[in-house]
Amino acid sequence: MPTTNTEVPRPRYHFTPRRHWMNDPNGLVHHGGLWHLYFQYNPEGPDWGNMSWGHATSPDLKHWTEHPVALAHRVGEQIFSGSVVASRTGNDVLTAYYTSAFDDGRQAQSRATSDDGGFTWQTDPGNPVLDRGTTAFRDPKVIRYDDGLTARWIMLTVEADDRQVLLYASDDLASWEHLSTFGPLGATGVVWECPDLIMLPLDGDIDDPRWVLLLSTNPVGDEPDPAGSSMHYVAGRFDGTTFIPDSPELCLLDHGRDYYAAVTFDNAPSQEAVAIGWMSNWRYAHVFPSKPWRGAMSLPRLLSLRTVDGRPTLVQAPPHFVREHLQSTSPTPIVVADRATDFPLTGHSLLELYWDPATTGTLRLRLRGDVDAFVDLVHDPRRETLCLTRGGPAAEAVHPDFPSTSTVPIPGDRPTRLLLSLDGPLLELFVDNGEATASNLILLGAGSVTASLEAARPGTVHVTAIEIGMSTNIDALVPAAHD
Ligand code: FRU
Repeated sequence: MPTTNTEVPRPRYHFTPRRHWMNDPNGLVHHGGLWHLYFQYNPEGPDWGNMSWGHATSPDLKHWTEHPVALAHRVGEQIFSGSVVASRTGNDVLTAYYTSAFDDGRQAQSRATSDDGGFTWQTDPGNPVLDRGTTAFRDPKVIRYDDGLTARWIMLTVEADDRQVLLYASDDLASWEHLSTFGPLGATGVVWECPDLIMLPLDGDIDDPRWVLLLSTNPVGDEPDPAGSSMHYVAGRFDGTTFIPDSPELCLLDHGRDYYAAVTFDNAPSQEAVAIGWMSNWRYAHVFPSKPWRGAMSLPRLLSLRTVDGRPTLVQAPPHFVREHLQSTSPTPIVVADRATDFPLTGHSLLELYWDPATTGTLRLRLRGDVDAFVDLVHDPRRETLCLTRGGPAAEAVHPDFPSTSTVPIPGDRPTRLLLSLDGPLLELFVDNGEATASNLILLGAGSVTASLEAARPGTVHVTAIEIGMSTNIDALVPAAHD
């Protein structure tokens, strides 16, 4: 019997902290054979506050181990978002830049170094090392720029309220020179947060390097957009000093409601651009009913840049381990018609659908679990959209803005491949291997899930469904006293 009791199962192949509040990924770096993930963390409770850097590592981007807090808040100072870079001079030092958010409202950039591979950190006695005396100067992302002639460190930060990205350069990761300022542009009524700037070859051509600026924007003011926080990108050129966008418009990076503050790893093997985002939304993150943890990271995504309809478009593919799981089995052809075909899924599954909309017309996939909520996906080939609706009494009970419809652009005139990653409350959608993505928190309860497929006209849908197993029962490790 469906209920509005919204038990939220812990994701299995996404990072969640054992307990307490988490938001942005911070300090993503690959070092010593490990992927390091630091994160905005309240070590003391389930709500935002006491912001510190939590820490986790993974050998493979699938299994994560949580470690003790790396940078703890202290009297008068919280540790906001930032980044970590690995030395390029052969030593093993890691350097972190983070925002010191002082109780008097000032925000400035501070530095810390680690000699033991990122497990313990020494803060710089000269902190903060970059201070403009302002109150929304934050989220330092340090990147390596090397065009063969010039090699140096570039730091991107925001003046969040001014919708500006400030770029600085350094040779020694200690002193910084202001280079240029980008923005404001695009929508007003938002703050800009968590910038990143990534070099990606256009259409795989390393002789045609382009740069993509990532930005997270969060509505502010008297009547903030109820859709809440979201991510954008703009492609352009960067000469080591100034970023020139190709167009004055910011493109939506993910079409769901729950993908924010994503940044890429420094020093990733094979120079891959791997991004992780926070799967929540500032609009309702504080009331999402998961326990004893609150906040989850997305799947890592492999970024590339492809010309689509004449425009450089960011493609966000699922990580290698997801592809490997999907390739381990062959799809089952299912004949679908206007009466729903049901099949069971576990709540921790990859589901890939491949079909030809020219045959089926509109295709609908509905997911139901053991709570009174639903997730509906409807592909309309004429409109060239996929609408993802999460609704029902249990969704309404979370927050008035939680029930929602996300619209994903998706061509209607060719066979379509859609990958759904469902890991407890995390639903990520990849259209055609990442040409479009949509990430949403959903509520389906803790039991099994029924998927129902329905098509306007009879046709075959090739379905691959794989359960992703559990390696450790992390909830069993959580001491009850801390719940
Ligand atoms: C983005 C953000 C950052 C800030 C951090 C504080 O979600 O608001 O701008 O550094 O979260 O937790």
